[in-house]
Amino acid sequence: MHAIRFETTGGPEVLKYVEVDTPTPGPGRILVRHQAIGINFIDTYQRSGLYPMKLPSGLGSEAAGVVEAVGEGVTRFKTGDLAAYAGTPGAYADANAVIADRAVKVPAGIDARTAAAALLKGMTVEFLIRRLHRVEAGETILVHAAAGGVGQIMTQWAKALGAVVIATVGSEEKAMRVRELGADHVILYRDQDVAAEVRRITGGKGVPVAYDSVGKDTFDGTLKSLARRGLFVSFGNASGPPPPVEARQLMLGGSLFFTRPTMGDYQATTAELDASAAALFDIIGSGKVKVEIGQTFALADARKAHEALESRTTIGASLLIP
Ligand SMILES: NC(=O)c1ccc[n+]([C@@H]2O[C@H](COP(=O)([O-])OP(=O)(O)OC[C@H]3O[C@@H](n4cnc5c(N)ncnc54)[C@H](OP(=O)(O)O)[C@@H]3O)[C@@H](O)[C@H]2O)c1
Repeated sequence: MHAIRFETTGGPEVLKYVEVDTPTPGPGRILVRHQAIGINFIDTYQRSGLYPMKLPSGLGSEAAGVVEAVGEGVTRFKTGDLAAYAGTPGAYADANAVIADRAVKVPAGIDARTAAAALLKGMTVEFLIRRLHRVEAGETILVHAAAGGVGQIMTQWAKALGAVVIATVGSEEKAMRVRELGADHVILYRDQDVAAEVRRITGGKGVPVAYDSVGKDTFDGTLKSLARRGLFVSFGNASGPPPPVEARQLMLGGSLFFTRPTMGDYQATTAELDASAAALFDIIGSGKVKVEIGQTFALADARKAHEALESRTTIGASLLIP
């Protein structure tokens, strides 16, 4: 089979498409023959060295496909099932032997491409808006990079919960897309002052919660957009890591809260994983969240996929197809 490997960290050019042995699933594992592989921004952090990996390394953490073999002791899956996983390394490959307890069955009615495009991004949204903070009907929330993979799902899911969504995007085309998805207010954050716009929209109050996955470039604007006792959810670094947070800044901002969550801690058990995936598949099944697969690339073209993602030209989710 083929897989993407990299021996040194760096730009997209370090990604190599190579032939490797197909793994045999050991005890507790299943071999998933991929039909679609989800591309996530975290893959670029691992490739660049922002999130260190032991090298040489495979890449990717999300895919969906058919269970081809089951290891000893696996009862959760049988061969022929459609499975998906998120958060397990080595997904940029034709197949992967993954821990059965960290994979989920894809329900009838959802295809492998949708599952691979939505699982990691959608389960992230699930914990961010239903558990880390419970978004309430009528609450106004700030969602950065709303036209992206995570952002589109968050915008639609928050709307389904009755929230008022202030979305930020990097282009007019993306602004149009998030309006179609239900965003109530759209800020073009490359041209407009985010905090000033948020204050204007909220009548000076600011938002009770802001979801910031952009990091460095949006940090100040997000901080200044929060209402008294507001919650800053910093969950990504698309523009680079945010600066260190000083306790004093939180006081001056109005007794603010700051959190830096990661999905793994919100699905630490198989029960949490199953509940999160079920909630996601339910809302997709209901039609309230539509998963846009904006771009597909051949697995061999992983380099091009990373170039597209990092140049901010993608909309919605991107897939690699083996
Ligand atoms: N903490 C967690 O557990 C967790 C889990 C999943 C994802 N995440 C984070 O969520 C974010 C979204 O992930 P995704 O895979 O769905 O990616 P994505 O949103 O599809 O792509 C990233 C987007 O960020 C925006 N952006 C702003 N400044 C940028 C810059 N300097 N370079 C590149 N992009 C920039 C771009 O949108 P505009 O053109 O509109 O600015 C770009 O399309 C990432 O930061 C990721 O790390 C965190």
